[in-house]
Amino acid sequence: MQINFIEVDMAFQNQQATVYNDTVVRQFAIMTVVWGVVGMLVGVIVASQLAWPELNFGISFLTYGRLRPLHTNAVIFAFGGSGLFATAYYIVQRTCQVRLFGDKLAAFTFWGWQLVILLAAISLPLGYTTGKEYAELEWPIDILITLVWVAFAVVFFGTIGTRKVKHIYVANWFLGSMIIAVALLHLVNSAAIPAGWMKSYSVYAGVQDAMIQWWYGHNAVGFFLTAGFLGMMYYFMPKAAGRPVYSYRLSIVHFWALIFTYMWAGPHHLHYTALPDWTQSVGMLFSLILLAPSWGGMINGIMTLSGAWHKLRDDPILRFLIVSLSFYGMSTFEGPMMSIKTVNALSHYTDWTVGHVHSGALGWVGLVTMGSMYYLIPRLFGKKEMFSTKAIEVHFWMATIGIVLYIAAMWIAGVMQGLMWRSINADGTLTYTFVESVKASYPFYVIRVLGGVLYLGGMLVMLWNTLKTATNGRAADVSIPAVAAHA
Ligand code: HEM
Ligand code: HEM
Repeated sequence: MQINFIEVDMAFQNQQATVYNDTVVRQFAIMTVVWGVVGMLVGVIVASQLAWPELNFGISFLTYGRLRPLHTNAVIFAFGGSGLFATAYYIVQRTCQVRLFGDKLAAFTFWGWQLVILLAAISLPLGYTTGKEYAELEWPIDILITLVWVAFAVVFFGTIGTRKVKHIYVANWFLGSMIIAVALLHLVNSAAIPAGWMKSYSVYAGVQDAMIQWWYGHNAVGFFLTAGFLGMMYYFMPKAAGRPVYSYRLSIVHFWALIFTYMWAGPHHLHYTALPDWTQSVGMLFSLILLAPSWGGMINGIMTLSGAWHKLRDDPILRFLIVSLSFYGMSTFEGPMMSIKTVNALSHYTDWTVGHVHSGALGWVGLVTMGSMYYLIPRLFGKKEMFSTKAIEVHFWMATIGIVLYIAAMWIAGVMQGLMWRSINADGTLTYTFVESVKASYPFYVIRVLGGVLYLGGMLVMLWNTLKTATNGRAADVSIPAVAAHA
């Protein structure tokens, strides 16, 4: 049966028919694209400031130190977070064959999360920060995050609890672990004593504070930026390929091995610090072990396409997903290598780390989100495809070339910086001053800006395509979601 999505909601209210709640999915999906543009625009601005520092125009709100956390919060929590909410709500309904648990609570998570983002966008440029990376927001906002996250957990697990299908599909395991782990990380790391409305002090001190912070920081990567997006991959990769997951058994091994191992690897962020040496070695060991489950997952995703490789030729959505998995494999090979203490002695504090971050962030998180959204958005607006497939193609190439420029520039700059800093003359003095290494980095910073502009440009193309699909879709018919088959 074909019906307009507004009528679907009305049909639900009037006849209590079992239809999926796609309103909240639609809202989060649109905001994923909008926040992607905003977060990446701020990324391009901070990248430009590193090449041309005068671009802060002497205005305190626009200084690098204030815009950088705005960039990281916007891309991780606004862009990535909205993408996770949208896909988690979409996937859990389809795989459980039941409407989302608690419509009002789901709506609260949408408006609450947008309010958190708005408060971040105001408070960070004003200079309010806890100083903890990826957890900069002050305590009143932290409390709001907690409320929204608890509501998310109730909606997600409530839906699982009322499911009509006995089996819990593996994507839900990854998404569920993300929800639980992030709740734990946020509560423990944000524990602070308020000293005013927008000022607080961490309850931890010294090296314990650092340890807790990087247990948080690393698992934010592990659960927010990895497990959640793996949940996305395990649903949308088979859907886009039109084939079942290559090995369901491997996906279960992947899940348990990944979540167990990630929790111990945090100390690799604190090599050669006051953290006890054995703790650093434990972090390094678990980081090396982490290569195995990460690659198990990557291989499982890529092999899902076996027998259907020809589809890559004319399906740009599949290309987004496959290339995202390649970057996932690359960054999870690079990470364990960088966690080896002798390698870290070279890479730490350099742009090599920033290159690693963005091969994961732009390559894995960015591309898997874009691919999933391109699959999802037309379906949310009663269409089979996005308004323009050509535009998806253009986006794919802009993003891919942008990533290559960004990360290649950072790798070269990073290794160069590390080598220049450690270079010593025969008499024991430093061969290069720090300023010389900054000067040598300049061309690579300009190349990064170019890469960033391309990546952002691709995102603008996506925004145009999304708006076109949404506005055209309003007048079109969409299937009643309840009769749609699931994975
Ligand atoms: C147009 C795209 C982007 C550009 C131009 C860009 C640029 C930048 C720049 C210049 C920095 C600061 C580096 C430094 O302090 O030396 C940065 C940091 C960071 N960005 Fe991006 N970024 C982009 C997209 C993204 C996306 C999509 C994500 C995540 C999904 C992301 C996550 C991060 C993170 C986590 C950091 C902190 C890295 C660290 O502390 O080592 N970025 N970005
Ligand atoms: C097996 C998986 C991985 C391991 C073992 C690993 C390991 C590492 C290591 C050793 C560092 C450098 C720490 C330092 O010297 O300060 C690092 C930094 C980082 N990695 Fe990874 N990485 C992995 C995967 C990823 C992925 C997939 C992403 C993104 C999606 C990512 C995001 C980051 C971020 C954001 C930082 C910078 C943190 C900061 O200093 O602000 N990592 N990682």
